[in-house]
Amino acid sequence: MCGIVGYAGKERCVEVLMKGLGHLEYRGYDSAGLALQRDGRIERITEVGQLENLTRTLAGRNGDLSLVRTGVGHTRWATHGRPSEENAHPHLGGDGRVAVVHNGIIENFSELKEELEGRGVSFRSETDTEVMAHLIAERVEAGESLRLALVGVLQRLEGSFAVAAVSVDEPGKVVAARRQSPLVIGLGEGENFLASAVQALLGETNEFILVENGEIVEIADSSVEVFTSSGEPVERESFEVEWDAEAVELGGYDDYMLKEIHEQPAALGSTLLGRIDTGGVVDLSEVGLDLSEIDRVVVVACGTAYHAGLLGKHAIEKLARLPVEVVIASEYRYADPIGDSRTLVVAISQSGETTDTLAAVQAARSFGARVLAVTNTKGSLITREADAVLLTRAGPEICVASTKAFVAQVAVLELLALALAGSRGVIPDRELREIGRGLRLAPEKVEETLELLGNRVEEAVEVFEDARCSLFLGRGISYPVALEGALKLKEISYLPSEGYPAGEMKHGPIALVDEHCPVVAVIGEGLVREKTLSNVEETVARGASVIAVARDGDKGAERIARLVLPVPEAPEILAPFVCSVPLQLLAYHVAKDRGLDVDKPRNLAKSVTVE
Ligand code: M6R
Repeated sequence: MCGIVGYAGKERCVEVLMKGLGHLEYRGYDSAGLALQRDGRIERITEVGQLENLTRTLAGRNGDLSLVRTGVGHTRWATHGRPSEENAHPHLGGDGRVAVVHNGIIENFSELKEELEGRGVSFRSETDTEVMAHLIAERVEAGESLRLALVGVLQRLEGSFAVAAVSVDEPGKVVAARRQSPLVIGLGEGENFLASAVQALLGETNEFILVENGEIVEIADSSVEVFTSSGEPVERESFEVEWDAEAVELGGYDDYMLKEIHEQPAALGSTLLGRIDTGGVVDLSEVGLDLSEIDRVVVVACGTAYHAGLLGKHAIEKLARLPVEVVIASEYRYADPIGDSRTLVVAISQSGETTDTLAAVQAARSFGARVLAVTNTKGSLITREADAVLLTRAGPEICVASTKAFVAQVAVLELLALALAGSRGVIPDRELREIGRGLRLAPEKVEETLELLGNRVEEAVEVFEDARCSLFLGRGISYPVALEGALKLKEISYLPSEGYPAGEMKHGPIALVDEHCPVVAVIGEGLVREKTLSNVEETVARGASVIAVARDGDKGAERIARLVLPVPEAPEILAPFVCSVPLQLLAYHVAKDRGLDVDKPRNLAKSVTVE
């Protein structure tokens, strides 16, 4: 949560910082601000609310900032102190000689604040960050360099953070450090960059250095130096990121969410590429773990990634006949979990930096489990904590509500299920290969789903116009799909939405049903189809308007539903993909109909880096 950027180099500092913040806004949008070195002083410019407010303010400055070469920027998700001008970052220390931007939490800030107040320092914000600005400023005023001041202050801080600072006394320099929260350095020519994530700098550079936990960094126009926490210089290899700038642009779409929904065929194609051949044989040797030694799987994740985990459980249990437990990471971390070295813990995280998922990984490591990270972000924190990594190759996901990363996570878990099944020999090879060939069809079946749906989803919006809540029902594999559909709808339309196993309805939630509580039913195929239809019928009898996600031409669904969102006939392994697409589009159109910002829903941030 919160995004930070830093720049040292040419007279395009404001442009680079603002572009970077634009690409980091998914991390929080309660306020935004810049601290710029100019004319022997630091100018702080902040605005409450989304970045566009700051953009407007800068536009009103008529280019007077065009000569600025060094600065830092911040986009905020409020933790300490409400969203306000005073609480917006950057925070200034001393008499404004130092400015600091921060992502994370300083846990011992109250003691430090008290101590500073005891020395006569007055605070202008309610944030934890401001203590850092004053502590650094005190040291700078006492004659220390900005870097050494930061090193000294870091030793006093408890918590997690990525921090960047500029000082009046060191023009052309930005100093930064990280503990737990992410930070990357972008390498340019005659300019260098800092950011919370590589996406911030795509279009500026593709060459990055990861800052390791505890390290301190100093950038200037033509130098980048990295130091250990005790001040020793270290050499760091750079790496290239293949994503291009277009991947973080809207490219003709109104919103990132719609763009990302339509990118799903490509995301699935890249995720499967090279991991399953035309004969349906899976190759996950990149994992580098001996899968035949595994006798139990635990999946840890949050939110949408947790739902992907539930779908992974279905696939692994069915194909590999291995027991799988799926646990919400924030619960797992404190649950004193049980396991041993034959337990495979699969930690799923699009961002690779969700605090609870990282803590769950540490909990798993404490009992010797082998940890496999499934993430969309190369070089992210989780990749450094895990024994092995499987990247989802969905490309950068900007919208807070996850769509393409979700289907890519499910695809990776299904590949893993096939690989585990292969190593255990519980299903005849011929059968496994057939299922594998089915999985290869994922991109084209999702494409077909998008075409088949056409404008049907927009028609469904009417059903939600006077809804006060909604229920998403499914059984078997359709149940996690329903859960994910309900999460999508509630997070971007703010309509209370429950995902429930259809067979469990009569044990409580059916009490919600009336004409103001539409039911979205994922009908599914196989064993539970008829049962689901009967469960849904019971809601119709109680006045519910039903929207059914069902195979195109499913007469049973057409009979009971007010509207069917059709999906193409597809192998069972593809059901989670084809059935999720209509639900994503449904959430999108309901939210748009309500005039809401689908990419930046209220109160949320994409990377949840606090507990
Ligand atoms: O980056 P992660 O996959 O670890 O994020 C986990 C959740 O915060 C995330 O999936 C969240 O639920 C999304 N907003 C859902 O759309």
